[in-house]
Amino acid sequence: MAGRLGGKVAIVTGAGRDGNIGVAICEAYLREGARVVATDFRTAESEVVSARLARSAPAEHFRFLTHDVTSEANWAQVAAETAAAFGGIDVLVNNAGIAIHAGIEHSSLDDLRKVMAVNHDALFIGTKACLPELKRSVQRFPGGGSVINNLSMASYMPSGINIGYHVSKAAGRMLTLCAAVEFGPMKIRVNSVHPGLTMTPLIREGLADYVKLGAYPTVEEAEASIAGMGPLGISSDPEDTAHAFVYLASEEARFVTGASIYHDGAIGQRY
Ligand SMILES: NC(=O)c1ccc[n+]([C@@H]2O[C@H](COP(=O)([O-])OP(=O)(O)OC[C@H]3O[C@@H](n4cnc5c(N)ncnc54)[C@H](O)[C@@H]3O)[C@@H](O)[C@H]2O)c1
Repeated sequence: MAGRLGGKVAIVTGAGRDGNIGVAICEAYLREGARVVATDFRTAESEVVSARLARSAPAEHFRFLTHDVTSEANWAQVAAETAAAFGGIDVLVNNAGIAIHAGIEHSSLDDLRKVMAVNHDALFIGTKACLPELKRSVQRFPGGGSVINNLSMASYMPSGINIGYHVSKAAGRMLTLCAAVEFGPMKIRVNSVHPGLTMTPLIREGLADYVKLGAYPTVEEAEASIAGMGPLGISSDPEDTAHAFVYLASEEARFVTGASIYHDGAIGQRY
């Protein structure tokens, strides 16, 4: 099959909000010949987005499944329905994520646990649920299965106003490395992408929260100030970020595992 991902079957979580990274990854994967299962909460917005993705793909190349990534039962269903529909799973993109913007003083333990559940625990549950199918991927593709965790520059860069997010993303990095070591002999590669400032609904809400917390006077100044921390001085678009996910899912990356791709304009490298 044509394309850099021709014939591969990919699950992409958190792909139900217009303009977000998950949707951009689905679009890029479909363009490169993958068959894609996008998952997210079912909302009016996800209905519209998934209908658009379905129209953009060849018939029978796309499914949308309702999914709470914190639920083991939901993951079992998603893995089973994907394998039944498309004959296996070659690529798992753990992309869903949330943030509660507060430091330790103004966060509850419950806040911390909520963020950990989506940004960290779901990577564990999802990888475990898809593992039997990912193991079989090497029978179809020499590069084997690929798990790609969407982390953040927050995994290596501290902040005083976003405790759960930074801790969960840092833990996700070690989970990625441990999984790469454990699954290498099974020919499953596990890597992470660390986006910097990527203009999506999540980041726009985040910048508005930073303004409310008094960290910046306006959203525009917050964006300019954070972008200005990197030598390029710019923010990213979701479509830019999606390129890193195409590479890691492709056979071009068959020798790449345990890698962290810093897709952050070097904003995070200052820490
Ligand atoms: N935008 C950025 O600048 C940026 C930077 C670094 C990392 N990231 C990471 O990229 C990923 C995507 O973020 P985005 O900016 O596109 O944000 P987004 O809010 O637009 O997308 C996140 C998606 O995750 C879904 N989601 C949240 N909780 C879920 C759950 N329990 N079950 C299923 N789906 C759930 C949301 O519905 C949403 O569609 C996240 O993991 C985020 O931490 C983003």
